[in-house]
Amino acid sequence: MQRIENINAATMTDDKGYGLIQDATVIINKGKIEFVGAAFDAPATPTAEVINGNGGLLTPGLIDCHTHLVWAGSRANEFSQRLHGASYQEIAEQGGGIKSTVKATREASAEELLELALERAETLMSQGVTTIEVKSGYGLDLENERKQLTVARQLAEQLPVNIKTTLLAAHAVPSEFSNNADGYIAEIIQNILPTLANEGLVDAVDAFCESIGFSPAQTEKVFKAARELGLPIKLHAEQITNQKGAKLAADYQALSADHLEQLDEEGVKAMAENGTVAVLLPGAFYFLRDTQKPPVELLRKHAVPMAIATDANPGSSPIHNLPLMLQMAATFFHMTPEECLRGVTVNAAKALGENQRGVIAEGCYADLALWNCKDAAELTYQFGVNPLKTLWFNGVAHDRVSKPWSAR
Ligand code: NIG
Ligand code: FE
Repeated sequence: MQRIENINAATMTDDKGYGLIQDATVIINKGKIEFVGAAFDAPATPTAEVINGNGGLLTPGLIDCHTHLVWAGSRANEFSQRLHGASYQEIAEQGGGIKSTVKATREASAEELLELALERAETLMSQGVTTIEVKSGYGLDLENERKQLTVARQLAEQLPVNIKTTLLAAHAVPSEFSNNADGYIAEIIQNILPTLANEGLVDAVDAFCESIGFSPAQTEKVFKAARELGLPIKLHAEQITNQKGAKLAADYQALSADHLEQLDEEGVKAMAENGTVAVLLPGAFYFLRDTQKPPVELLRKHAVPMAIATDANPGSSPIHNLPLMLQMAATFFHMTPEECLRGVTVNAAKALGENQRGVIAEGCYADLALWNCKDAAELTYQFGVNPLKTLWFNGVAHDRVSKPWSAR
């Protein structure tokens, strides 16, 4: 049993703000939160190990609810091409983009992919992250999608972190199916999805509904197959063009629709009605030099929960820094510091269907981050420094400096 004292706790349990408790005490028992409240209300725990938070801020462990963390290769050359005038879409249409990462990822062994992904996951964890969603989508056939998702599961075996896997086989059309996207969708539905779901590798199903991805009709076929297997869905929607993907996803009670720069009010309303979380990805917005911002005002107006994630991937967001995404969401999208922190805690948990994480509440997992901050807004305000002091995963404390979780 542990007792964390002398802290301010951002519990994230109220409707809009931080749910802040000044001079709080948190009691952890068997990996779960047994008590959270004002110090003067806390029960006596004579045998507990006492941790002095030195007046720091305790938050839920951060949740990165949209990443493509398992990949090989580099797209630095495409970054150069873009700086010489090519667009992201042009590079994709010429066989680069996602396809070049597919080639490198297929060529890499599972061991090589794990080594790369461990490093990336540790980087996120060193900045307060305790849950990471990891998508496939750089394999695009049964064997290689399995390889990516298996590596994602191995991250959770080797590191103290919670991993949620998402099958994104409908990310791009692989070369074996060139000019036959429908044929590839059939392969996903009949083979890749049911096989990997049966192997326990799939927590949710995603697709890239876009002019350079899959049509709404193709996307809907994937959703139907996911629903038959009882799997929740997510969607890359309205990133470059408005395909009405968010509405389609919401009609299938999607956990989330992600990106959303081109989202219209009809889509926002459908998301509100179905409890679909808006996952905003300011890293991709920034890295692609997008100018169209997601409709944050409309999302607020219709009370759609907003989450924020890194979208860590080699093409549109080669970024492994979740606190930086808070700063960008505030600066680019005009989100408030409260919305930003909610976006990587309670709302990110909702985007993953995790109902025992993302808040500091009795009965929830003791995934916690202790920061050397007086004010919760500091987590959004500053970047380039790392105020994380201690990270708890399932009630076990890890000191940031020594990285004792490292498997290597
Ligand atoms: O979330 N939009 C599609 N997928 C990724 C980018 C993948 C890539 O370029 O490799 C994204 O932005
Ligand atoms: Fe993505």
